Amino acid sequence: MDRRLCVAPMMDRTDRHCRYFHRLLAPHALLYTEMVTAAAIRYGDRERLLAFDPAERPLALQLGGGEPRDLAFAARIGEDFGYDEINLNCGCPSPRVRKGAFGACLMAEPARVADCVAAMRAATSLPVTVKCRIGIDHRDDYGFFAEFVDAVAAAGCEVFVVHARKAWLTGLSPRENREVPPLRHEVPRRLKRQRPDLVIVANGGIRTVAEVRDHLRAVDGVMLGREAYGNPWRLAELDRALFGAGPPTDRREVVEAMAAYAARAADRGVPLKAIGRHMLGLFNGLPGARAWRRSLGEGMVRAGARPDLLREAAACVREDTPAPAASTLC
Ligand SMILES: Cc1cc2nc3c(=O)[nH]c(=O)nc-3n(C[C@H](O)[C@H](O)[C@H](O)COP(=O)(O)O)c2cc1C
Repeated sequence: MDRRLCVAPMMDRTDRHCRYFHRLLAPHALLYTEMVTAAAIRYGDRERLLAFDPAERPLALQLGGGEPRDLAFAARIGEDFGYDEINLNCGCPSPRVRKGAFGACLMAEPARVADCVAAMRAATSLPVTVKCRIGIDHRDDYGFFAEFVDAVAAAGCEVFVVHARKAWLTGLSPRENREVPPLRHEVPRRLKRQRPDLVIVANGGIRTVAEVRDHLRAVDGVMLGREAYGNPWRLAELDRALFGAGPPTDRREVVEAMAAYAARAADRGVPLKAIGRHMLGLFNGLPGARAWRRSLGEGMVRAGARPDLLREAAACVREDTPAPAASTLC
């Protein structure tokens, strides 16, 4: 599987509608679901939690959990649904997740993570991968990180997505934990040098084509979260820079395809806002971007909002040329 360009798992963001949109922009990217807990898969509405459009593939299912048996069960269900990879979340620092004894606090228990990986691998033929931090709390030396990776790799995990900052498990909110601890991309790079047999995907603060090219000289892939979500056209630029032809060249093509998707979704009772909310940043940087955001943002929440609203809002954007530099505006 090509992992040079990945879009990060993001709760309340990368749902199936968001992923369909991202797939149109980046035909070659590996997409990730939001984290779904193993318990939700065991007891919840699986169709609602796991169903997706085949166009979203290649697609990784990210699981949250810390019990080998539950995770193995969830991984098997994920395979049945048609996912291409099962990823275990060892990086989320939220207190709710910590209470359930999974997410980033699992980094303190490499043997448990190894058991989880082994159980998932026994239950599915899909690649089982791990997304982690570079440390937790005061345990942020390279040795701690390398021991975690070695133990998990020994259980058969060959791919590590590394959010290159540590997590503070107490005192910081999840949001602060994505901003406050400094980024240390030298850590995943060192890991790649020391374990060239492993596939290392760097994550954290990556935004531009130039940054991505720089990372790809040192690691196997990059994963973008907030930049991909907030400025989705970046995905088309990155996909073209890395893979050549394939991504759309005009944002209106994407609007047209999303309007058709929204019409099909409406037949299943999906309201327009569930789809449009992921598209607000599409025209960032172009004249009229604000008008697009306003007319889509205000229109999509009205009762009975129709897919045509996407086309109408796009008409606010005059042309696909960059916004003039601030100095020429005044
Ligand atoms: C709103 C939001 C939700 C997130 N949810 C998850 C999640 O479900 N699983 C996970 O592993 N990381 C989650 N993350 C972390 C991202 O996957 C990523 O590691 C982090 O944002 C750093 O990458 P970035 O600087 O490119 O955004 C989330 C991040 C954001 C902003």
